Amino acid sequence: MSAQLPDGIIIRQAAPADVNSFRDLRLEALKDHPSAFGQDYDENILRPQSYWEKAVTINSEEQALSFAEYKGQLIGMTGIYRNLSKKILHSAGIWGVYVTPEWRGRHISQALIRSCLDWARQKQVVIVKLGVVTDNQSAIQCYKSCGFIIYGKESKALCLNGIYYDEYLMSVDIK
Ligand SMILES: CC(C)(COP(=O)(O)OP(=O)(O)OC[C@H]1O[C@@H](n2cnc3c(N)ncnc32)[C@H](O)[C@@H]1OP(=O)(O)O)[C@@H](O)C(=O)NCCC(=O)NCCS
Repeated sequence: MSAQLPDGIIIRQAAPADVNSFRDLRLEALKDHPSAFGQDYDENILRPQSYWEKAVTINSEEQALSFAEYKGQLIGMTGIYRNLSKKILHSAGIWGVYVTPEWRGRHISQALIRSCLDWARQKQVVIVKLGVVTDNQSAIQCYKSCGFIIYGKESKALCLNGIYYDEYLMSVDIK
């Protein structure tokens, strides 16, 4: 969980100037890995610029978006959100974990997830959850290496081109 990142990689929070790079990165993720994400490429490419502008300014008590950057280029992302309602304030969810293919296997997603878990700890969150399609071995391994365990399975969580995909429900206790 605390592996060394390659030199020059920065993990940081999203900023307004990231809007176009974030749009490109997110659309690349959705296009190239349709079964890995709940969001759909064809729907997202039609979203107005205001949607992307809002997404890079979401850092708040409720949510955060972390990027991995190398020489000014975004090469990875991970988001985290929580609901501020009193009884579920202690819980948060991770979404959108993505690292561009040429940078995979260098512990960048681990660092992104760690940054989101740090954000959650600062908010007194005690448990962080996510869903991952059951055949996505690289993501499952990645989450396990960050301390997540499988606590359940959601049948037919996604439907893509008439094919149903089950998801493992994973969580990590960060208290
Ligand atoms: C899943 C993904 C985010 C992993 O990113 P990454 O930066 O390559 O992962 P890391 O280098 O941080 O690896 C984290 C751990 O997972 C393991 N891992 C990552 N990819 C793996 C693979 N293909 N096979 C086996 N283990 C793998 C690593 O060995 C590492 O564990 P270790 O520290 O014990 O060695 C990346 O492959 C990706 O973007 N995939 C496409 C999008 C996707 O599926 N997102 C997840 C949606 S739920």
